[in-house]
Amino acid sequence: MRFVRSLMKAAALANVPKHVDHFSKFSPSPLSMKQFLDFGSTNACERTSFVFLRQELPVRLSNIMKEINVLPDRLLATPSVQLLQSWYIQSLMEILEFLDKNPDDNRVLEMFVEVLVAIRNRHNDVVPTMAQGIIEYKDTFGPQDAVTNHNIQYFLDRFYTSRISIRMLINQHTLVFNGNTNPAHPNTIGCIDSMCDVTEVVRDAYESAKLLCEQYYLGAPELELRQMNGETHMKHCDKTHTPIHISYIPSHLYHILFELFKNAMRATIENHEASRTLPPIKVMVALGGEDLSIKMSDRGGGVPLRKTERLFSYMYSTAPRPSIGDKHRAPLAGFGYGLPISRLYTRYFQGELQLYSIEGYGTDAVIHLKALSTDSVERLPVFNKTALRHYKLSLEADDWCVPSKEPLDLAVYRTAK
Ligand SMILES: Nc1ncnc2c1ncn2[C@@H]1O[C@H](COP(=O)(O)OP(=O)(O)O)[C@@H](O)[C@H]1O
Ligand SMILES: [Mg+2]
Repeated sequence: MRFVRSLMKAAALANVPKHVDHFSKFSPSPLSMKQFLDFGSTNACERTSFVFLRQELPVRLSNIMKEINVLPDRLLATPSVQLLQSWYIQSLMEILEFLDKNPDDNRVLEMFVEVLVAIRNRHNDVVPTMAQGIIEYKDTFGPQDAVTNHNIQYFLDRFYTSRISIRMLINQHTLVFNGNTNPAHPNTIGCIDSMCDVTEVVRDAYESAKLLCEQYYLGAPELELRQMNGETHMKHCDKTHTPIHISYIPSHLYHILFELFKNAMRATIENHEASRTLPPIKVMVALGGEDLSIKMSDRGGGVPLRKTERLFSYMYSTAPRPSIGDKHRAPLAGFGYGLPISRLYTRYFQGELQLYSIEGYGTDAVIHLKALSTDSVERLPVFNKTALRHYKLSLEADDWCVPSKEPLDLAVYRTAK
């Protein structure tokens, strides 16, 4: 019996590339925040969600699996990336099992939820495992050329976005159809809060970062929080006190703000080691007709303009690298993933994260999110010819002159005349 089962498994494995080819021909279907909300409330139907996901999840998984395959062979061969690929194959196979199952059978729907939870758990460590693979690759083969580095950055942005989106779909289905509503948060549908109180999330993220910062530095800068609700239409209403609510995923917003606060605190403290007082971190939350923006300003000394784009690189950090296995102490900094992943979260629903740094003074980090749930639509990678062309880019000559490092000898020109 066991022999038959392993034969069947081997046969299923052999078919995986065929399935990946098939499902990667479809483009993922981006959902808007409004669709997520409607789907979880008025139209909540587990059967429909099941039928959608058993097609959409394989499409999203296959699109990114195709893209993993174009990574450099030596990176693909690292034990970490091999392990990661086996998770993707296993999860894809488990969902494909449901393609011929009856959506009207409750037992099938229950099993589907169980499988989704198992998949979510299997993929918990995807980010550190991928990061580990890249470290192994760079340690073994040395620093890579500019093209390879560009490709890895391009790939990771898309790979992690894909992961965020797959987890979003899984979370919505498992939370909405687990039969329990959350009485403490009547406005939440799955992990989305249709009345997400932005300043409350700012305060929460500040408090957590402060605790961590105090463990490392025995102190932390204060928070100065201001808000401007430009959308309140009530007469005599104080725009600086009317709460600001948007439809958003509080855990995503918290993650972004927590990372920004940790960075701002570290910079502030390291830039004021000699002085007794720390300048506060100033946060401004503003709601307009289209955008919800959050600006966080620190006086941490800033970074030179030349380096600002580098801060979003997955390989860049100025903090000492913490050990991955150390679960007792959450590191304040060091993996260099804080900014790039936070920017992915903002972009996932059509937002943006930008840094404006003034060297010698401090940094403004600005988050823009969509104020309207109809504008917040998933931004998803699709594997097609355009994506493939990005990987095939070769290092061409620059179309701007490269200044010579040697001083120009003008005497040569004078004699030539
Ligand atoms: N507010 C800031 N002020 C000065 N430098 C910053 C600030 N935010 C980020 N940085 C720089 O950017 C680097 C990358 O930040 P991040 O992606 O959060 O990774 P990490 O904090 O793990 O180093 C930091 O190591 C730091 O040098
Ligand atoms: Mg950081």
